[in-house]
Amino acid sequence: MLITRRTASTQGSALQTADTDASQLRVSDSHASAISLSGVHLTLPGPAGPVNILRGVDLEVPQGVALGVVGPSGSGKTTMIMVVAGLERVTSGRVAVAGTDYSGLDEDGLALFRRDNVGIVFQSFHLIPTMNALENVAVPMEFAGRADAFDRAEEQLKRVGLGHRLTHYPGQLSGGEQQRVALARAFAVQPKILLADEPTGNLDGATGQQIIDLLFELHDQHDTTLVLITHDMKLASKCDRVVRIADGLIAGEGLAKAAE
Ligand SMILES: Nc1ncnc2c1ncn2[C@@H]1O[C@H](COP(=O)(O)OP(=O)(O)OP(=O)(O)O)[C@@H](O)[C@H]1O
Ligand SMILES: [Mg+2]
Repeated sequence: MLITRRTASTQGSALQTADTDASQLRVSDSHASAISLSGVHLTLPGPAGPVNILRGVDLEVPQGVALGVVGPSGSGKTTMIMVVAGLERVTSGRVAVAGTDYSGLDEDGLALFRRDNVGIVFQSFHLIPTMNALENVAVPMEFAGRADAFDRAEEQLKRVGLGHRLTHYPGQLSGGEQQRVALARAFAVQPKILLADEPTGNLDGATGQQIIDLLFELHDQHDTTLVLITHDMKLASKCDRVVRIADGLIAGEGLAKAAE
């Protein structure tokens, strides 16, 4: 099953770049989906009994699209991207990312897949405090076996405007600078999927705007599929598509419904 889906993914990405044979473009959209969730349920134990966090999520996100995710606190937004990242196993349903069905991967397989395909940016930056900016960006690439990890990290940090802060530790960087390091780290491996969970939530308005501009710039340059969780409708409106999550389900699509 895994091989079949990988083949489908290869066809999908080939279709996106090859525009020679229009008839091939009729192949099912799901083959070209960067993210495919179908009938996803996630139930976790809570102190007062099981909590049905995701209750049947269906979502197809084509390669290269920027998807905004909005919805009330506690509706399941973060949980949904944890599922997409393979950090949370679903109770039932199917998750496929970049054509790879997660059910065919064990924990090590998931970790490797994530390392090579998925970047994540969190509200609270999640940098390693004992590593400087350069090391924070380079070390994951070193783990991935890249011989040019440090050169590439320096290049990425320069791209986010931090060429003068390479040897600063997270505690010696402002919030906006820390988030720029996190963006450099996330994009350094050129992930197919970039998951951002309220990336400006801890930043002031102007700094947040810089981070968002940078996020969309990197998304455009790398043709990354972006999933952006935000409570900011103006920010969501910058995305190609917006879905609203409510009570563990996709409750609507588009900003008009999202603003209700
Ligand atoms: N490990 C867990 N065990 C049990 N329940 C959990 C767990 N993690 C999250 N939940 C519950 O699942 C629901 C969805 O949480 P989630 O973090 O996905 O919400 P969210 O939409 O991201 O909210 P916010 O906008 O506040 O970040 C919440 O009610 C939360 O309490
Ligand atoms: Mg959340």
